[in-house]
Amino acid sequence: MTIHRAYIDGEWVATGLTFPIINPSDGSVTGHVARCGAAEVDRAVRAGHAARAGAWGATEAAERGRLMNRLAALIRRDGEELARLESEDVGKPLTLARSDVGVCARYFEYYAGAADKVHGDTIPFQNGYTVMTVYEPHGVTGHIVPWNYPLQMTGRSVAPALAMGNAIVLKPAEDTCLTALALARLAEEAGFPKGAFNVVTGFGEEAGAALASHPGIGHISFTGSHEVGVLIQAAAARNTIPVTLELGGKSPQVVFADADLDEAAATIVKAITQNAGQTCSAGSRVLVEERIYDSFTADLAGRFRALRVGSAAQDLDLGPLVNAKQKQRVDTFLTMARRDGLPILAEGAFAGNVPQDGFYVKPTLIGDVPPDHPLAQQEVFGPVLVAMRVKDEEEAAAIANGTPFGLVAGVWTRDMGRGLRLAHRIRSGQIFINNYGAGGGVELPFGGVKGSGHGREKGFEALYGFAATKTVAIKHGL
Ligand code: NAI
Ligand code: MG
Repeated sequence: MTIHRAYIDGEWVATGLTFPIINPSDGSVTGHVARCGAAEVDRAVRAGHAARAGAWGATEAAERGRLMNRLAALIRRDGEELARLESEDVGKPLTLARSDVGVCARYFEYYAGAADKVHGDTIPFQNGYTVMTVYEPHGVTGHIVPWNYPLQMTGRSVAPALAMGNAIVLKPAEDTCLTALALARLAEEAGFPKGAFNVVTGFGEEAGAALASHPGIGHISFTGSHEVGVLIQAAAARNTIPVTLELGGKSPQVVFADADLDEAAATIVKAITQNAGQTCSAGSRVLVEERIYDSFTADLAGRFRALRVGSAAQDLDLGPLVNAKQKQRVDTFLTMARRDGLPILAEGAFAGNVPQDGFYVKPTLIGDVPPDHPLAQQEVFGPVLVAMRVKDEEEAAAIANGTPFGLVAGVWTRDMGRGLRLAHRIRSGQIFINNYGAGGGVELPFGGVKGSGHGREKGFEALYGFAATKTVAIKHGL
């Protein structure tokens, strides 16, 4: 069986230790990956600094953009192979993996175009002075990426860092290392100098913790659980470096009677079942105006019953969850719902020939969930939608804001005054009115408030997170 090596300082590195790759569709072991620890992380960070002091640091902004465009073109060239790898590794339906490849390429294209357009200001100051600002890269940036959208999240995190001239050290999730390594191979082919793009594979508590606490990194980006996010910020505090944390959500979708209910229902079902609900921005709570609650949840229920779950290759509505731990987590929430007598309004179904031993769960719609119930408060990270009745705008805002999270929210209404009032009142990083997610939106700043984290990814704003502003004040007299 293949042993996949890490990619450090332009070399493919074996460590002597490995861990298995498990196919979530059937539980089989399909290969092994190098298990990196503190020594490999240290080597990668040093390589990043050497690259910054050498060829990568000397690469002009326009050339960084050209390299990134070349990488994007290679991602598109190998799109089908990358989609197959991602689909098998994560367990996601092939069609979704194909779309993820396109989004990953798009991140490199978008930030390639930005690389030579991030210019500073000149600032009117006292007579006899010229003052300007310059954006300087942090140096070597760390990127700890989760397993739910490995290609997308890697692009989202490393592309703006590279555009600004940082050298990157990427730690993919232990469940999904393969496309990160494939990207490293393509970055090499594109011509990135050695040490600019490093991938250390390994466990969170080993390689991840070593990266987050390494005194040589200038910034750390993390997407994942709240619990680990706190550890990352604490490690960063000891080195006084900035962090970007994206820690998921419990995102509400508020539906009023005057909305286009058909479009709302279709979008709401997709937003919680795509990627089997393992999406940070999944719309996991639906708050429905009381007078349409019964008819609207009946519509949602019909759509849930039509959903089919199968292996990644079967390419149905949902694949398996990524691993046994996630399946157990989702099963625990579903058991809790039954124990507490919450009405299960609908479930999807397994396809007839679903492989044995995969990590499958049925998409489930649960009605009348009390707003303080764990199912309405905690991130399930599975295809579980909880419905609640709301009397009016006031109550909708209170319940929408009544969780520890604040990542994304959706409002469905034809009354734009009401839509905008809620857009102001709901505390979250993104609000969508009469749509949800805007198709991924590489261009749209994204991130959390409250327990969902801080810092912004995507869009032009992400670039500024990967640089420090230097102010240069020159006194030359009149
Ligand atoms: P996790 O937070 O443990 O893993 C995410 C990444 O962090 C992985 O690359 C992992 O290797 C790394 N990591 C783990 N422990 C670390 C440590 N001590 N230091 C540095 N890096 C570390 O998430 P996990 O356990 O896989 O999933 C648990 C829950 O977290 C999920 O059910 C979900 O609620 C949430 N989650 C949210 C994500 C999002 O997109 N916001 C993505 C993944 C998980
Ligand atoms: Mg964990």
